[in-house]
Amino acid sequence: MDTDSFRRAMGSFPSGVTIATTTDPAGQPCGITVSAFCSVSLSPPLVLFCPAVSARSHDVLRDAERYAINVLRPEHRTLAMRFATAGTDKFARAGFRAEGGVPVLPSALVSVVCRASDRYDAGDHSILVGEVESVHVNDGQPLVYFDREFRELSPAPLLAPPGRVDRYRDRPLFDTDGTDESHAA
Ligand SMILES: Cc1cc2nc3c(=O)[nH]c(=O)nc-3n(C[C@H](O)[C@H](O)[C@H](O)COP(=O)(O)O)c2cc1C
Repeated sequence: MDTDSFRRAMGSFPSGVTIATTTDPAGQPCGITVSAFCSVSLSPPLVLFCPAVSARSHDVLRDAERYAINVLRPEHRTLAMRFATAGTDKFARAGFRAEGGVPVLPSALVSVVCRASDRYDAGDHSILVGEVESVHVNDGQPLVYFDREFRELSPAPLLAPPGRVDRYRDRPLFDTDGTDESHAA
């Protein structure tokens, strides 16, 4: 299997876009755009994210005792590119504020502040598992990354809750000949 095929396959799996942030031992803020983020455990509440070993921020993030994961909205797309560009002044006028020494983005859809729990080597990335100390949740929509492009969600859910009309009822389903009961209004 070649690298391009693997990249294309993984690019077909949509994700949100986050900025993982911390503060280095000298007190300087540090952050990186990360799509490799997911929840791991409910009790205790654990999440993970995966920074590349080659990232300049890798060692600071890996050694950090606390960090935040900020889930971005479509309005943050240029900020996402800034935090994906090494060597730029990532935090200039970006609106982060310090929460217990960790930079948090108040306009984020969600911010999750974590205490570092476990660290694993995984090929050319690290897997950093954090125990969630606090969450901030705002209303809004997430920025989506798919096929190496930023997207946003379609305005309507594909399958509305029970008892409500499926707004996509004219679209084919792969698991039915069209007589599926779920299409009943
Ligand atoms: C949408 C998007 C998602 C990304 N996801 C990750 C990721 O999950 N892990 C990672 O290490 N880099 C990821 N990157 C790349 C880093 O953000 C990029 O390498 C950045 O330059 C690292 O910054 P640094 O070298 O200053 O630490 C992503 C970039 C973009 C645009």
